[in-house]
Order: sequence, then C-alpha cells, then structure tokens
Amino acid sequence: MKDVVILGTGSSAPDNVVTNFDLEKIMDTSDEWIVQRTGIKSRHIVKPGEKFSDFAVPASQQALAAAGIEAADLDLIICGTMTPDYLMPAGACTVQALLGAKKATGMDICAACSGFTYGLAIAEKYLKCDPDMHILVIGGEIISHHLDWEDRTTAVLFGDAVGAAVVGTRENHGAKLKAVETGSDGNLGRLLYIEGMGSATPVTKDYDIDNVYVKMQGREIFKHAIRNMVEVSNRALAKAGYTVDQVTKVIPHQANMRIIEMLAKQFKKPMDKVFVNIDRYGNSSAGTIPVALNEAIHSDFLEPGDVVLLTVFGGGLTWAAAVIEW
Ligand code: UT7
Repeated sequence: MKDVVILGTGSSAPDNVVTNFDLEKIMDTSDEWIVQRTGIKSRHIVKPGEKFSDFAVPASQQALAAAGIEAADLDLIICGTMTPDYLMPAGACTVQALLGAKKATGMDICAACSGFTYGLAIAEKYLKCDPDMHILVIGGEIISHHLDWEDRTTAVLFGDAVGAAVVGTRENHGAKLKAVETGSDGNLGRLLYIEGMGSATPVTKDYDIDNVYVKMQGREIFKHAIRNMVEVSNRALAKAGYTVDQVTKVIPHQANMRIIEMLAKQFKKPMDKVFVNIDRYGNSSAGTIPVALNEAIHSDFLEPGDVVLLTVFGGGLTWAAAVIEW
C-alpha cells in the first residue's frame, strides 16, 4: 500500500511587521515583559482591506508548486481557520474559486489553533479510503481582527499568518505521515473563546464589539497546553510505532516560548532539535504548524531520516499531534 505523504508546503503572512516596541506605544506593556514571558519579538498584522484569502491563496500556490500538482487536480480542500473571508461561503470554497480548483470539494474545520493538524487527520483518513486523491490542507488566521488592542493580556500574543500543505499518496517518498491523533474537551471551552458572531449572540444594532475579541485565561491554558500536547504526542507516537526517544525533530505550536521549552524538556530534546519561529510570528493560531513546517523544510532544520513530531493545542479546547518520517 502507498504511504500518505506530504507532497509540498507553502506559507504567507502580511508584509506589515509590528514589533513589541510598536506595541509599547499603544498599550501598557514592554518589550522586556513580552520577550521574557512569551519569546515574541514581532508579529505580522494585516493592513486594512487585507483578508484571509490574500494569504491562503499564495501559501496554497507555493504548496501546489512544491508538490508538482495543478489546482485543477485537487480533489479536496480542507481549511482550518476561524477567520475565513466570510462566515459563508467557507474559506476553503473561497480559496477553491481563487485557485481554480474546479473539481475539489471545500470544507472548513473550526478547531482554533489545532485546525491545520485536524485537517491533516481528516486528509489522512480520506486518503486511506481513496489513495488517488490530492488534498490541500490550509491552516491560518487573520486573528488580529479579533484582538482588543487595549487588552495587553491577549493583544501582544497573536499574529496573522497562513500555511498550506498538499497531501497525497506515493511510494518511496520521504515525507510519510505515519500517524495523526486528535483530542478535545468542550467543558474547558470558556478558558479560551470568542463570544460573538455565533447564534448565541446575534448581531443587533447596539452590538457589543467586545464580543468579537479573543478572551483567554492564560495561566490555566498554559497548564492544559503542556499536559494535552504531551498526551496526544505520546498517542501519535505509539500509533506510528515510535518512542519519544526516537523523535529527532519537534515542530511545536508557537504560543509561548516557555511552553515550547517545557515540551522540549518533557520530550528530552535539546532546543536545537525544536523548531522555533514564535519570535517573528507570535501565535498565528492554526497558522503556527503549517508555517513552521514550511520554514523547517526550507531551512536546514529537517534532514532525511528525521522522525518529526508536530504538536498543537488551542481553543475548544482542542489538541492534536502528527508524526512524519522525513
Ligand atoms: O494558542 C492557544 C494557546 N495559548 C496559550 O498556550 C497561551 C498560554 N498562556 C500563556 O502563554 C501565558 O499565561 C501568558 C503569556 C498569556 C501570560 O503569562 P503569565 O506569565 O502567565 O502572566 P500572568 O497572566 O500571570 O500575568 C503576570 C503579570 C500580571 O500583572 P500582576 O497582576 O502580577 O501585577 C499581568 O497584568 O503580568 C501582567 N501582564 C503584562 N504586563 C506587561 C499581562 N500581560 C502583560 C503585558 N505587558 N502584555
């Protein structure tokens, strides 16, 4: 049987870079606090008029080119995002039209930061049923539209970015998706949420704009993030037939440098085996994993023979992990 493989990746982010020093000018924060507590130095933030598809389309085109696949050959587009261009149609359908992926089916996954990796899990299952499919998995966010720039506890953490991967099946290809595992706990949903735009808070003339902002209990989320990323990573590794000792590279969710360092400690990996770009992007939610994967591929971080662990955590609460043989 052919393996499920990652055929190509891409990523894109707004040109506009906002540094911690820029944020110092508009809120009561400091570069020192942000760097020490999160590892973030700058993030990409859209300019007025820029939207999700402006970044999802180039990221997808890069992934298609790297895969050697035409958009017209795509059978399925899975888009992990909370911030598509419109509430309807789905982000995947908007991207489908812009790419000219006429025969594809488009669907969105709402799993916050875990959206891309949930997408990989769905793609893997589709491909096990129909190995001839070509699937585009997109993950990313224009999360800055949901940030309260007066709330220093959330605004400094996030950034906008989108990544994409084309997934299919091949023999003898060095990017085998060996296992993807997922999990969620809706009972903890209020630890990280956006209240508005759903049916619970229909938009009225005197709509409270505060409803559209990200709200987070950071310390609680911190604990759940580590616990669940470790648990789901172990589950994915067991399914792939590996122990954590055999993992040679880790590409973790980029939410907080301290979380990344604690994961490295749990997995007993030196930091040079752990991919980090949080300093330049902040937390781009569903964008962190595909953007990091794309950058890891285009740097010298990944080498043939690597056993790569992707691990992510986000609102829902949701979590997921994937194991790739490079
Ligand atoms: O992608 C989804 C998953 N998200 C995460 O995994 C995020 C997890 N949580 C975190 O990364 C951290 O909890 C935060 C970075 C959000 C916060 O770091 P912390 O070390 O947990 O800080 P804290 O919330 O306990 O706040 C400590 C202090 C507070 O002041 P007092 O009460 O001690 O006087 C805050 O008001 O830091 C203050 N503070 C800030 N100060 C300067 C909070 N935000 C800021 C800020 N600038 N931006």
